[in-house]
Order: sequence, then structure tokens, then C-alpha cells
Amino acid sequence: MKDKEITPKYHEQVYQPEADTYLLLKAVMAEIKYDDRVIEIGTGSGKIAGEAYKIAKSVTGTDINPHACRSAAALGPEIIRTDLSAGISSEFDLVIFNPPYLPTEEEEKIDDWLEYALDGGISGRETIEKFAEVLPEIMNKNGRCLLLVSSLTGTEEVRNIFSGKKLLSYVILSEICEDETLYILRIVHDVCGNP
Ligand SMILES: C[S@@+](CC[C@H](N)C(=O)[O-])C[C@H]1O[C@@H](n2cnc3c(N)ncnc32)[C@H](O)[C@@H]1O
Repeated sequence: MKDKEITPKYHEQVYQPEADTYLLLKAVMAEIKYDDRVIEIGTGSGKIAGEAYKIAKSVTGTDINPHACRSAAALGPEIIRTDLSAGISSEFDLVIFNPPYLPTEEEEKIDDWLEYALDGGISGRETIEKFAEVLPEIMNKNGRCLLLVSSLTGTEEVRNIFSGKKLLSYVILSEICEDETLYILRIVHDVCGNP
């Protein structure tokens, strides 16, 4: 009999790995190298950072949710509780982020830690916009970023945010998932100087 993969149960206030997690994990496994210094922003359960930790020599994860930080730290990577990458001055070869992306009106907000996993503000792009501000500082000049984006968030709108920061992005993977399509954007510094 084949061994079944058992998904561990995480704290109820921690985002459980879903289709978006596994699509991003697939892209990470194709991209990651032993020599990479890796950071996963918003690591949640730590599923992706934990798998990266089995391969790369240095893996850091961050999350704003203290319960997520505890889950992820149990899997081995260095975990820092912070807002995106605040307080981290290092540069990384591989930056990974599955951001909160659901368009959310003020009256739809729920006051708990899981809200941070889902709520992308009215446009769905609020956290992505903040991430685009810091990405050029934490991704080294030959670095790569893998970002999960949904059709609900607007892939072209997200790509425009990054091109405004002299970053080049392109879709490397996609998957239809119920009422949305999930995309993985690979983002690098635009060395040709995007006008
Ligand atoms: C969609 S979940 C993804 C979790 C995990 N990476 C995965 O793929 O299953 C988004 C995660 O980002 C975290 N997060 C949201 N805003 C954040 C911020 N400003 N700084 C750090 N983490 C944040 C949430 O707490 C949540 O764990």
C-alpha cells in the first residue's frame, strides 16, 4: 500500500496549505538551488519554507501572525515575526511570497489573524504594492522572486506595479482553481532598464 501524505493540522489561526501553496511550492522546487539564500515572506504554516530548508543552505521566513511564526519555526528555518521584511537588511537570491490577495471591503474585514492571510484591501493588491516597495532592497542583483497572483487580483495590474519599480515579471506557471486562475510570476531586476 502506498504511503498517503498526511497534511498536518496547524493552529486554527494559521493559513492551512491550499492549492495556491502547492502551486507556489511546485515553482519553488523547480527554481531553488543549494547555494541560494532564500526568504519566504508571509510563511504561514511554513510548508514552503520547510521544504526549501531541506534544499537551500539558508532559509528565512517572516510572518506578521505569531501563531504562523511558531508553526513555521518548528520546521527548521529561521523565522522572524515582522511586517513583510521590516528590520531585515540582508539581500537574498530567492524571494518567495504568497500574499493575501482577496479584494476586501472595509465591512467584510474580520478581526483575527487569518484576516492577514486573505485580505488584500479593496483592490486585492494593497499588500502586493507594499511588497513591491521593499523587493528591490531585499533581492540581490541576480536574484529571483516567485510571487503567487490570482485572476481575482489582476495579473496585468500586478505586473505593472513591478515594472514601475524597474522589475521585470512574467508568468511561469498557472492553474485553474474553481472560480479563479492562479499564476506564478517570476520577477527579476530589469537590467535593460525598462523605460
Ligand atoms: C495566503 S497566506 C500564505 C501562507 C503560506 N505562505 C502558504 O503559501 O500557505 C499569506 C500569509 O502572509 C502573512 N502576511 C500577511 N500580511 C503580512 C505582512 N504585512 N507581513 C508579514 N506577513 C504577512 C499572513 O499572516 C499569512 O500567513
